[in-house]
Amino acid sequence: MKIFQTVGEVQSFSSSIQQSGLRLALIPTMGALHEGHLRLVDEAHRYAEKVMVSIFVNPTQFGPNEDFSRYPRTLEADLAALSERGVSGVFTPSVGEMYPPNDQTWVRVEGLDTHLCGPFRPGHFQGVTTVVARLFLACRPHVAVFGLKDAQQFLILRRMVRDLHFGIEMVGMATVREPDGLAMSSRNRYLNEVDRKKASVISKAVFLGRGLIAGGEQDPATVENAMREVMESAGGVSVQYAEVVDTEQLQRPVQLQPETDYLVAVAAYIGQTRLIDNQFVSVRNL
Ligand code: PAJ
Repeated sequence: MKIFQTVGEVQSFSSSIQQSGLRLALIPTMGALHEGHLRLVDEAHRYAEKVMVSIFVNPTQFGPNEDFSRYPRTLEADLAALSERGVSGVFTPSVGEMYPPNDQTWVRVEGLDTHLCGPFRPGHFQGVTTVVARLFLACRPHVAVFGLKDAQQFLILRRMVRDLHFGIEMVGMATVREPDGLAMSSRNRYLNEVDRKKASVISKAVFLGRGLIAGGEQDPATVENAMREVMESAGGVSVQYAEVVDTEQLQRPVQLQPETDYLVAVAAYIGQTRLIDNQFVSVRNL
């Protein structure tokens, strides 16, 4: 497994793979890897002969009061796990490498960030699209694999790839969960024992929301209130949002229609830890 720190190194690695006629998959991550990330690696092996992972805690996607400085960094363990899963290359650039001095270029997808996490994390998705565009141009993969745990992120990045003609196949993989339903997340390690037990209500809420819509509920507010109530019933869970949106524009429908794809999504604080989860009601268009 090769480790690259500069854009130049990773570009020549990618070129040599292209020249040998092999396909390259990229999985962008911020490290602190868990089984959810590693399953993206397994999935990537189905699409490409060579799999590369980037590990970069991207400062531009964290707000001023968010957890950039305390975000877990576990590089040695990450590298060991990736090598075991058959990864060919890991790109671990510095902040200065990804954002050269005096850089002035941003990538922004408009309109898909007016709901869900967008209003609560101003600038977050612009930071994500900017860094992923830069990672794509550095690594030049044929295919990129993302988790649907971050569904809004996936849908925004997929739109960026279409709009800018990146020509990269975008694969979204189902959320990997703990036995009690909690979506695996690098941030779960912030939870103490009591909060960890409560955290299962987050997934219960989105499964309930999906079930209500699949059962024919037509009023989005009824679904949203039901999801909110499940989370609040645990006590000590502070709900940030519980929403139903369509999967194209990520807007709230006035009334739910049959045969239409929806995304139900929630965000809540348990203590100081912000957790998100979601479910697609039908993945017909994904
Ligand atoms: P990070 O949170 O490290 O996640 C990296 C990838 O792993 C994302 O595509 C995310 O959706 C996926 N992932 C995380 N938990 C998962 C789970 N339980 N099941 C399935 N997939 C899961 O998302 C980011 O990093 C960053 O925003 C990034 C795209 C790297 C840009 O900086």
